[in-house]
Amino acid sequence: MKKVLLLASGSGSNVENIINYFATTSHDISFEVIANKKDAGVFERAKRLQIPAHYYPKSRFENGDFAQFVKNFQPDLIVLAGFLLLFPADVVKDFPNKIINIHPALLPNYGGKGMYGHHVHEAVLANKEAFTGITIHYVNEQYDKGEIILQEKTNIENCTTADEIAQKVHELEYKFFPIVVEKLLFG
Ligand code: GAR
Repeated sequence: MKKVLLLASGSGSNVENIINYFATTSHDISFEVIANKKDAGVFERAKRLQIPAHYYPKSRFENGDFAQFVKNFQPDLIVLAGFLLLFPADVVKDFPNKIINIHPALLPNYGGKGMYGHHVHEAVLANKEAFTGITIHYVNEQYDKGEIILQEKTNIENCTTADEIAQKVHELEYKFFPIVVEKLLFG
């Protein structure tokens, strides 16, 4: 059985999409969810999907408690799906090439500290970009700097709001993120 930790900070629609995707396959896989906000929408989704979910405030990510939790869980893959904190460096060291993140833009553009969720789409809109997209990458000690696994583009010339861009980016995320997770776990 492959064990996957899903980390989120907010709504968790990517978390739900990944869980639903694997429910349509015959893979032997189990999930647990971790969120760093008590009221994160992902808790509702996890409850509905009957997936164990844990609340970890920022301080517990920083004091080593989280590293121990991850070691006990022995994950085959750690998936940051809308997780907005810097991932703890000690866990990065313990799990080389086993932590991946999705970023809602074409890195290295629109990445780094403070560039997440809607902030990214607002910046892309302000710069009148013709294209944006998604980047799925390994996680290292720096925001959005790990080795890129996959990028997919979408044309946004007809988008006039950040919400419209977000919707197009989410479509790419829902299509490609579960497939990348599947490939990494099952080849
Ligand atoms: C997603 O678009 C994801 O790419 C982004 O947050 C959103 C979460 O949506 N992640 C980042 O910006 C990381 N820097 P969701 O909670 O509905 O899955």
